[in-house]
Amino acid sequence: MIITIAHSKGGVGKSLLSWHLAIAMKVPIVDLDFQKTLVYTNNIRKANKLKPLDIIHPKSQEEFIGLFDDWPEDKNIIIDVGGFDSNLNRMALYISDFIITPAVDRVTEIAGLSKFHQIVSELSKKMKVDINTNVLLNDVNPVAKDFSIMEELIDNYEHFNLMDTIVSHRADFYRTMEEGKGVTELESGKAKKEIKKLIKEIIKKGEENGKAKN
Ligand SMILES: Nc1ncnc2c1ncn2[C@@H]1O[C@H](COP(=O)(O)OP(=O)(O)OP(=O)(O)O)[C@@H](O)[C@H]1O
Ligand SMILES: [Mg+2]
Repeated sequence: MIITIAHSKGGVGKSLLSWHLAIAMKVPIVDLDFQKTLVYTNNIRKANKLKPLDIIHPKSQEEFIGLFDDWPEDKNIIIDVGGFDSNLNRMALYISDFIITPAVDRVTEIAGLSKFHQIVSELSKKMKVDINTNVLLNDVNPVAKDFSIMEELIDNYEHFNLMDTIVSHRADFYRTMEEGKGVTELESGKAKKEIKKLIKEIIKKGEENGKAKN
């Protein structure tokens, strides 16, 4: 399954989530982010004598497409898409089996989400397929409980589904990265639980999507 973390808006947690998911799932990351944020974190990981992540940087669109030619369904990989619109980023959306769009639970986020929805909608029309993305509330206040405003807003977008899992703002997410680690490598903690729950949801919904396609 090709799992893509995508949003045309920057700074929503795409790289952070890609990192923790890839470590937890023991899968490679294709990094389409020019800033190469994760290379830096992976270097710290190497310096701390932990098994580095396999981070792939395709040099061209052809190389990117080549990577995913006949991608086996039972092999997982994560694509960290850059926070901007481009042909390559659209291609990543098109070839993905499961797309996650991180968003903060603030009404002001809707402008950014609308823009991304427009991209997904255009791409769906152009490619004549229904591309849907799974909006994940991320970096949420850990004491927040009522997400009804976001639920209602996201419900208005044809190509968006809201994920059940919610990822909170937690120091564990960035502190572990400062040591080149993932939260699932910690003994315990709420951040670890959230990533594990997120993986369960990805696998379950990814399998359902796969069955619907066949
Ligand atoms: N759940 C979270 N808890 C704590 N900090 C978070 C969380 N999610 C994101 N952040 C912080 O928000 C900032 C932006 O995250 P990140 O770099 O992953 O965003 P991005 O979407 O990859 O941005 P870009 O599009 O620029 O690549 C980082 O400082 C990150 O540590
Ligand atoms: Mg990033």
